Amino acid sequence: MLSDTYGRVATDLRVSLTDRCNLRCTYCMPEEGLRWLSKPELLTDDEIVRLVTVAVRELGVTEVRFTGGEPLLRPGLVSIVERCAALSPRPRLSVTTNGIGLERVAGALRAAGLDRVNVSLDTLDADTFRTLTRRDRHADVLRGLAAARAAGLDPVKVNTVLMPGVNDTEAADLLAWAIAHDYELRFIEQMPLDPQHGWQRDTMVTAQDILRDLAARFTLVPESEAARGAAPAERWVVDGGPHRVGVIASVTRPFCRTCDRTRLTADGQVRTCLFAREESDLRGALRDGADDAQLAARWRTAMWGKKAGSGLDDPSFLQPQRPMSAIGG
Ligand code: GTP
Ligand code: 5AD
Ligand code: SF4
Repeated sequence: MLSDTYGRVATDLRVSLTDRCNLRCTYCMPEEGLRWLSKPELLTDDEIVRLVTVAVRELGVTEVRFTGGEPLLRPGLVSIVERCAALSPRPRLSVTTNGIGLERVAGALRAAGLDRVNVSLDTLDADTFRTLTRRDRHADVLRGLAAARAAGLDPVKVNTVLMPGVNDTEAADLLAWAIAHDYELRFIEQMPLDPQHGWQRDTMVTAQDILRDLAARFTLVPESEAARGAAPAERWVVDGGPHRVGVIASVTRPFCRTCDRTRLTADGQVRTCLFAREESDLRGALRDGADDAQLAARWRTAMWGKKAGSGLDDPSFLQPQRPMSAIGG
């Protein structure tokens, strides 16, 4: 088990497959991109599968999510999914992607054993998409979403970050669209994880702002705490159901108390939290010949350092050294 000193148990592993991305969302990356990890720094496909195997077999991980950067940029993704789906016990497998290229690969991912997918889409307007992501790929994302649904990935969730003055008037339109397409929409509060340090607490769009806008057009009934479990999203039943909408309010209503996550970066570092300031090097141990039991022991020790919360409300809060795209969302 991956227990921490606050009694939480991590059963959900998030694996970043690359720090690279083909979009440049303004809240995530500068126009010119970042200094990417080099090939030798990245875990190989075999190393990723080995560490996921340790997590599943030795440490009780039951859910594995592949993230980035943009995980579809990793050439070995389908085979990594296939190999992880063959593990016993079989973990639930998901991907969080910006949707570009999903049209091409959704069927192969499903066939390889992927259960579900979360796709980022912040706007219904192609021009706003170009402003936000600095790329003209809105139609690709819509096609990727449709392909995910057609391939049988279920649920298909959509992640939306609302930015003040850019797309913050779209909440209700996005929800109507998501319901029409049977996607589960979740709004995410912007977190201070951008390398440009552009996040501002006073101007960020909060869960409260979003719920007020949605309530003007929809009837929202909160789901019970029991139904939520350890999920980061609080959910509301919309207009009597069956559709739901979620809000991930990491800033104003953090879910740290029930957090069940552990993370592996694309260069093989264990992180106990998005906001952690420490990392534990599994790649080094792996390449020095550590066996599964030694890797598991190192991972367990790392989790003892998991903090109670993100520390966002502490006056001395400091952003982690790595931006979100290099940690894995
Ligand atoms: P499911 O609900 O199981 O589908 O997973 P998820 O919502 O965690 O997955 P996804 O990758 O779609 O993440 C959505 C957003 O949740 C991310 O963009 C983050 O904003 C937020 N999030 C994910 N993990 C963490 C975390 O450990 N801490 C905090 N504060 N936010 C997180
Ligand atoms: N705050 C909140 N969400 C973010 N994402 C990227 N950067 C941030 C941030 N600073 C979102 C993306 C994607 C998910 C993986 O994380 O939009 O939906
Ligand atoms: Fe790429 Fe995601 Fe960052 Fe956008 S938020 S630039 S899609 S990693």
